[in-house]
Amino acid sequence: MKVTIIGLGYVGITTAAGLAEIGHNVIGYDIDSNKVESLKKGISPIYEPGLDELLKKNLKKKKLGFTTSPEEAIHHGEIIFICTGTPSREDGSADLTQVEGAAKTVARHINGYKLIVEKSTVPVKTAQWIERTMKLYLKKKVDFEVASNPEFLKEGDAIRDFLKPDRIVIGVGSKRAERLLKELYKPIRSPIVVTDINTAEIIKHASNAFLATKISFINMISDLCEATGADVELVAKAMGMDKRIGKEFLRAGIGYGGSCFPKDVKALYHVGTQYGLNFELLKNVHEINEARIDVLMKHLKNALWNLKDKNIAIWGLSFKPNTDDIREAPSLKVIKRILNEGGKLTLFDPVAMENMKKVYPEKYPEITYAKDMYEAVKDKEALVILTEWDIFKEACLSKVKELMLTPIIVDGRNIYKPKKVRKMGFEYYPMGRP
Ligand code: UDX
Repeated sequence: MKVTIIGLGYVGITTAAGLAEIGHNVIGYDIDSNKVESLKKGISPIYEPGLDELLKKNLKKKKLGFTTSPEEAIHHGEIIFICTGTPSREDGSADLTQVEGAAKTVARHINGYKLIVEKSTVPVKTAQWIERTMKLYLKKKVDFEVASNPEFLKEGDAIRDFLKPDRIVIGVGSKRAERLLKELYKPIRSPIVVTDINTAEIIKHASNAFLATKISFINMISDLCEATGADVELVAKAMGMDKRIGKEFLRAGIGYGGSCFPKDVKALYHVGTQYGLNFELLKNVHEINEARIDVLMKHLKNALWNLKDKNIAIWGLSFKPNTDDIREAPSLKVIKRILNEGGKLTLFDPVAMENMKKVYPEKYPEITYAKDMYEAVKDKEALVILTEWDIFKEACLSKVKELMLTPIIVDGRNIYKPKKVRKMGFEYYPMGRP
């Protein structure tokens, strides 16, 4: 089938590569010519394991192409996916101007029946706005429909999530749209849930907000564990053994970040209150998450007394492992707080340092970037761990201890066994553990 993808961000690039991989003929469109040029060479502007290989393979097979020409893009696909960004506005609601822009582009260049599918995470009833925009800006009478097919992929695991999803949700308004989307996903053997469009839009928002709620819930319990000397890791383990609860997304720590959870929790709260409903639960989820930074800072100050002129290392800048993404990463908040209190920082992350250098350039006062994790801890008075990369879990801690000026670890992700590291002579501050 011929497919067009509008918007080449995380979701757009992965969807383009994934649909080409399962045999479709895909064109990706974006207004950013640098991005398009790089993608034409099979180089992804985002770090995602396996993505470059998939791009190169399908570019070579001519299953995949990229363009900055809206005409070429819109003429190509019978199915057109809108994968543009939906960032937060000041008040937390979703900014849908890019989605509107995509709809206008389709209206301007449409040349025959198109199924316009929203894949970006959008508030319920966005499809109706897309349809209205299309009708307003259409120059001639052309048949089109709008559908919703939310994407559930996780960064770092995006390709697997695309090719082997737990479920595929399609929200449609006609049998024709249902048939087209079922045919599109035929090569993927996952259950398909067919709904109306509003329901599909809510499924996506609700899924993300629920996962974020699970994280904030365990973080709330983490604070209770900390106050009473209990161990949140064991609480989570035992809770997770109950199949109704499940063990996933019960890892306590520094809290959730990234381009989805913080934005979607706020946006869904906004949608609910717009309808006059009590969505305070989501406000609490957000507030608990924000307060995680205070908990970590309290641990750091308990260890170092004052932060002024203290030399502190940070391991882990990305919002989670296996990605270079630092959007809404806890590291951004922690760095700011430590600098505000007069601390000096040495940062290390296996892939996210280039992105952090765009926020704090190399010559930024009081910040140094280390070549490796051991160089980062040399002569430091504390090590703060903010991302659970495998290399940190496997680090030679006796070497770390030797290199540090004072052997203090503040662990925002609970990656070590407290007894073991303390036995080695570290002062160790995990989250929610005795
Ligand atoms: C998320 C959803 O999982 C995905 O379905 C959706 O399409 C996009 O948003 P992503 O943001 O890539 O994906 O990352 P995810 O693995 O869900 O983690 C989000 C954040 O939660 C990270 O900061 C992670 O560190 C944190 N997290 C996750 C926890 O703090 N504890 C957990 O138990 C799990």
